[in-house]
Amino acid sequence: MNNISSNVVWHEASVHRAERERLNGHRSTILWFTGLSGAGKSTLAHAVEERLHQVRARTYVLDGDNVRHGLCGDLGFSAADRSENIRRIGEMAKLFVDAGIIVLTAFISPFRSDRDRVRALVPPGDFLEIHCRCSVDVCESRDVKGLYQKARAGIVKDFTGISSPYEEPLAAELVVDTAALDLEQCVELVLNLLRERGILAIA
Ligand code: ADX
Repeated sequence: MNNISSNVVWHEASVHRAERERLNGHRSTILWFTGLSGAGKSTLAHAVEERLHQVRARTYVLDGDNVRHGLCGDLGFSAADRSENIRRIGEMAKLFVDAGIIVLTAFISPFRSDRDRVRALVPPGDFLEIHCRCSVDVCESRDVKGLYQKARAGIVKDFTGISSPYEEPLAAELVVDTAALDLEQCVELVLNLLRERGILAIA
């Protein structure tokens, strides 16, 4: 994106991330769920959020379908629009991290370069990529929203996995096999990752 805003001056905050984290009693981070439509990203993100909420963590889920009703409602599914979608979400997730919140994002985010650009926006270790791995066949057999059927019929264009590519992560912090594991098992894997990374308790 070309930044064409001119005459803008950064205003330094007087309450910083570290103070917000201390107040919350946990670190902030981005849990970036990526995978095909129907792979279970939103279901898993919301289930993890529920568990975190139970231990009084400050959380928020940014969900592809929901964000496309508002902030990103002007974007379609061309490669350029998907990149812009992920750029906006990345910038928003960065603000959530600064706000001391554990932000969980559920977007197909099919392009490696877009995900890597978000990773580079925040300090190392603050972007945890979680690949919800599930084959097109399984997602298509679930077809919760009926979109695979429409994509096969050519009614929905540029559909990920059918007529638009999905680039699997090469070095995700976590791969969750959502076809083989049940939801509780998937949630535990994500919570373990947070524990391992020392996100959940700070001195
Ligand atoms: S992304 O590619 O830009 O990351 P995003 O996660 O925001 O996609 O939106 C994906 C959701 O939009 C899907 O879960 C599905 O419900 C809906 N959708 C509508 N058209 C398409 C399409 N052509 N490809 C993929 N998802 C689509």
